[in-house]
Amino acid sequence: MKIGVFDSGAGGLSVVKSLLAHNFFDEIIYYGDTARVPYGPKDKNTIIRYSLEALEFFNNFDIDLLITACNTVSAYALPDMNAQSNYPVLGVIEPGVMALENSNLAKDEHILIMATRATINSRRYQSALEDLGYSNITSLQTGLFVPLVEEGIFSGELVRATMEHYFSDIETPKAIILGCTHFPLIGDALLEYFEHKPILIHSGEAIVEYLEAHYDLQKREEEANLKIFASDNVAGLRKIADRWL
Ligand code: DGL
Repeated sequence: MKIGVFDSGAGGLSVVKSLLAHNFFDEIIYYGDTARVPYGPKDKNTIIRYSLEALEFFNNFDIDLLITACNTVSAYALPDMNAQSNYPVLGVIEPGVMALENSNLAKDEHILIMATRATINSRRYQSALEDLGYSNITSLQTGLFVPLVEEGIFSGELVRATMEHYFSDIETPKAIILGCTHFPLIGDALLEYFEHKPILIHSGEAIVEYLEAHYDLQKREEEANLKIFASDNVAGLRKIADRWL
């Protein structure tokens, strides 16, 4: 099986990392729209247009399945993307919600959703969690972490200061939904900030759980063939990939 992974930039490599660890696929084609990242502050129509343009990129490859690693794209563009492709396009929000549900936390435990402005404004995570009965949800737009990760900055003073900026007023959560593919790359720094108390819900691990539940996939012996493409500065993206993967 040959799959595509699409993200607005480098963050989707966190999903690729989980996919490589489980090794279900022969080939993974990664495309990061680094020329136009971030998607998070953009309007719904722009996010949908960019996502449909990304489909044109994947038309160059004969893929069987496309994973939109980007939560922002998953929040807005899945119906249009599925309508315009002849392979299934999966997002990461439903898998993320399923992963939280599988962690068996009590419904009144404090859940923090961190995501881009667009994802938070879509209320996709919040509504799904409310429908499942979760009653203590904090949702925060934390888009400043995106450029830090794109710069390859995953820890240190800047990351810590950004955490102080966003989190100084909230109580320590029991679970954090990393509602943006860039955030697993600052996962260690987050755990340190919250003294290793919360569990982290990670789009990459969530999509692996989702694939295992919905598809009949076998772990392969040989390593998957990974090809990385970007709309700008491919060398920069490959450098982050070398470091992160
Ligand atoms: N990768 C995007 C997401 O998961 C965040 C980065 C962006 O704003 O483009 O939401």
